[in-house]
Amino acid sequence: MTTCPKMDALTARGRAFLGTDHAILCGAMSWVSERNLVAAISNGGGFGVIACGAMPPELLDAEIAATRALTAKPFGVNLITMHPQLMELIEVCAKHRVGHVVLAGGIPPKGSVEAIKAFGARVLVFAPTLALAKKLLRSGADALVIEGSEAGGHIGPVATSVLAQEFLPELAADHVVFVAGGIGRGEMIAAYLEMGACGVQLGTRFACASESIAHPAFKAAFFRANARDAVASVQIDPRLPVIPVRALKNKGTEAFTAKQREVAQALDEGRVDMHEAQLEIERFWAGALRRAVIEGDVENGSVMAGQSVGMVTAEEPAAQIIATLVAECEGALTAR
Ligand SMILES: Cc1cc2nc3c(=O)[nH]c(=O)nc-3n(C[C@H](O)[C@H](O)[C@H](O)COP(=O)(O)O)c2cc1C
Repeated sequence: MTTCPKMDALTARGRAFLGTDHAILCGAMSWVSERNLVAAISNGGGFGVIACGAMPPELLDAEIAATRALTAKPFGVNLITMHPQLMELIEVCAKHRVGHVVLAGGIPPKGSVEAIKAFGARVLVFAPTLALAKKLLRSGADALVIEGSEAGGHIGPVATSVLAQEFLPELAADHVVFVAGGIGRGEMIAAYLEMGACGVQLGTRFACASESIAHPAFKAAFFRANARDAVASVQIDPRLPVIPVRALKNKGTEAFTAKQREVAQALDEGRVDMHEAQLEIERFWAGALRRAVIEGDVENGSVMAGQSVGMVTAEEPAAQIIATLVAECEGALTAR
């Protein structure tokens, strides 16, 4: 709840769905979205999401328990659909009675949505096209996140502004839809709410919160960067489709080109199949991101960041960032 009845009305469904004061999710960020940031976001009135990434079930188990110890507020868990132990990870979420599971990184495999709903959790999915969004919502997904190419991390080809125009008029009246990608200020949140979104998801804006465990060098790279520094990776071989990743341009960007050549050659020589080739690429990203976030090697690692990075200028507590976004959104809605 806020002091702005218009904002409260526009976010009512989103807040009820998440069980939060504000319909603002901090999207899961591998290595960054662990217990400290997740709890700080949820304690600040937003909705934190643990990034499971490549974690095995035991580590996810420990991370959920540790997050619970830091917050009594709701938070979610983000699972990557191509994780080889996806069903075991879902069991871990069931054991802890996690309220919301976000399935990311591809179409949810058969049985996964059902397994999550079976223990009473709500399922959030991403959908790159309207047709797929409708299919996923028909087959049990409870909410949708539409994420445009301005975002940090793995991205699709279409801008948030265009996705919002395509998806919201069709789906927003009957479904819970959150908008992500390129949001750095509350005025932008106001615009998507007015178009029918129930709430929003941000990643880049929260990555450098005081509670984020990201290395000081990672945070410094964010504070230095402008929008144009956050570039999408390029696919160099048409036979090896790689999902583009948006990150700050550095030497690591070139390492990815070399990695693609190496994997494409292994594919050509029949040493790996396409699935294994894609897993290999994903392992590269997970390692490169760890190198930047945890070790602080911002030259050779992957400093994943969205185009809103230019609006991230200093370390601030998560609750303060949320309060600023809410105040900006209220200001914009009140002035209309
Ligand atoms: C460093 C970083 C790591 C990310 N890792 C993940 C991830 O593991 N899973 C996921 O679903 N999204 C991931 N994302 C995307 C965020 O959850 C979020 O949707 C995105 O950052 C929103 O766009 P924005 O960066 O423009 O705010 C990542 C983003 C960043 C910046």
